Amino acid sequence: MQQLIFTNEVKDALAGLVAEMSPSGVYILTDTNTRTIGEELNSFGGKLITIGSGDECKTLESIAKVWEELSMSGATRHSVMINVGGGMITDLGGFAAASFKRGIRFINVPTTLLGAVDAAVGGKTGINFLNFKNEIGAFCPAEAVVISTRYFATLPAEELRSGFAEMLKHGLISDNETYRRLLNFDIAEADLEALLPLLEESVEVKKTIVEQDPREQGIRRALNLGHTAGHALETLALERNEPIAHGFAVAHGLLIEMVLSHLMVGFPSSELYPMAELLKRAYVPAPAITCDDYPHILELMSHDKKNTSASAINFTLLRSPGSVEIDQTASPKNIRIALDLYRDLLGL
Ligand code: GLY
Repeated sequence: MQQLIFTNEVKDALAGLVAEMSPSGVYILTDTNTRTIGEELNSFGGKLITIGSGDECKTLESIAKVWEELSMSGATRHSVMINVGGGMITDLGGFAAASFKRGIRFINVPTTLLGAVDAAVGGKTGINFLNFKNEIGAFCPAEAVVISTRYFATLPAEELRSGFAEMLKHGLISDNETYRRLLNFDIAEADLEALLPLLEESVEVKKTIVEQDPREQGIRRALNLGHTAGHALETLALERNEPIAHGFAVAHGLLIEMVLSHLMVGFPSSELYPMAELLKRAYVPAPAITCDDYPHILELMSHDKKNTSASAINFTLLRSPGSVEIDQTASPKNIRIALDLYRDLLGL
């Protein structure tokens, strides 16, 4: 079982974990932005490996560099990797560890909210390949994830909001009380002390689901809420050379899929307004879409890798906060109506 440690004393927590694991060597993977953090945490004589930052570095070339450094410095199957960074580092580092000598143990130290709440936990690892995101990878959980809010203070506000969208998703699929606590938290003026207990609750939601279904055969698909629409918006923005942060796309995807849930499985319409207000306050500008974009949005949705057949568009929907319906197929007509209502709610 993956150990989750919530603490702002990250250096001590890591030293304790390394002592417990008594590895033959320790390797700390960072990107150019998190190297200083990796150096600060290194109280056990680990070797630092640093790769370029950003999703464009989540490549075969970068992972080959990590494998090469491990091999050339004599890493063994009893070595441990510590991945210090955002989702790019924990995904790539996790896969490097999962594949080196058929698998070495690794620890994740996420330094972004999005990484802490999503990428670092749950065992999805991988790299991009041939322009496809996360095309090559493996399910392989970290031995432990050490989560702290101390690194978030220097993050751009946009990154915090992006991670918070995944927390909203966890609240919606968990229960009404958790969701309401998040709606009442002001992410636009985030208090990081007050965020830590909410983050802890949110990561536990993900951990509980992943433990039931580590390889996404069923209930883990609940975590895809907001992502069929969100990925389509993200890709559309990228195609227009106006990229939007993943979490911004997910936040808007959540509202679209809440509307679709209302149309298809009776999600209460009264729940749509607070989310629309939150989007207007913290997730602006909204993706610029008009009804002329609908055919292309539908096409992007039909290519989503969550679909099981080329003709059906698959969604995770909600009857109410906490009541999830996975494997729902929506008709193009309902998706168009949902997009219309979403635009009305936001005044687009
Ligand atoms: N990001 C969704 C999952 O880990 O399943």
